[in-house]
Amino acid sequence: MTEANGRKADHPIDPIFLKRFSPRAFTGEAIPQGELLTIFEAARWAPSAYNSQPWRLFYGCRDTAQWPLFLGLLNEPNQLWAKNAAAIVVLASKPNFLQPGTNNEMISKTPSYDTGAAWANLALQSTMLGWVAHGIIGFDTARAATELKLPGDWRVEAGVVIGRLGDKSILPEALAAREAPNSRRPLGETIFEGGYTG
Ligand SMILES: Cc1cc2nc3c(=O)[nH]c(=O)nc-3n(C[C@H](O)[C@H](O)[C@H](O)COP(=O)(O)O)c2cc1C
Repeated sequence: MTEANGRKADHPIDPIFLKRFSPRAFTGEAIPQGELLTIFEAARWAPSAYNSQPWRLFYGCRDTAQWPLFLGLLNEPNQLWAKNAAAIVVLASKPNFLQPGTNNEMISKTPSYDTGAAWANLALQSTMLGWVAHGIIGFDTARAATELKLPGDWRVEAGVVIGRLGDKSILPEALAAREAPNSRRPLGETIFEGGYTG
């Protein structure tokens, strides 16, 4: 079966799904703008209900004027490692959209779900380019909404820290010990042919 990154799948899958993981040791390397745009472009092509594309992505890159704001939104445990990242992204979703071909505002039933699809595309494209995309919710979402000037009905969904994988020896001991790809519960506990069987 497929093996990659110290992980083993029970059924054959593309190795990219095993290669994507969430380490914390980053080198401090900056990301070229073209590669970052490619990563965002992949997010852009995510599927969404009615093609509503409710996601909006806000970002700051290291060594820019935005960096202190984005890094400062993170809680302390996340700042500890994210300070060596290349970019920090905040993903928000918008609750309504214009029904295609009309002027009708519709309420989206799946803005968070759709934004999750955009994050997955972003993470896989990052991995394909040799970057790490580490999802985070350990940040001040309310302050993010205010500081990034989001309209009141938008929802801050989660964040992503993008960086180049470094050696775990640069991390504090407790974090270095966690720096290994994890596994998943068995597929049989996740899928049900028909209804729930407990
Ligand atoms: C929405 C979301 C929020 C997360 N928040 C954090 C976080 O605040 N800090 C952190 O270190 N990891 C965070 N993670 C990483 C998860 O712990 C990680 O994705 C999970 O353990 C699975 O491991 P893997 O990504 O290496 O496969 C988050 C992941 C997601 C998708």
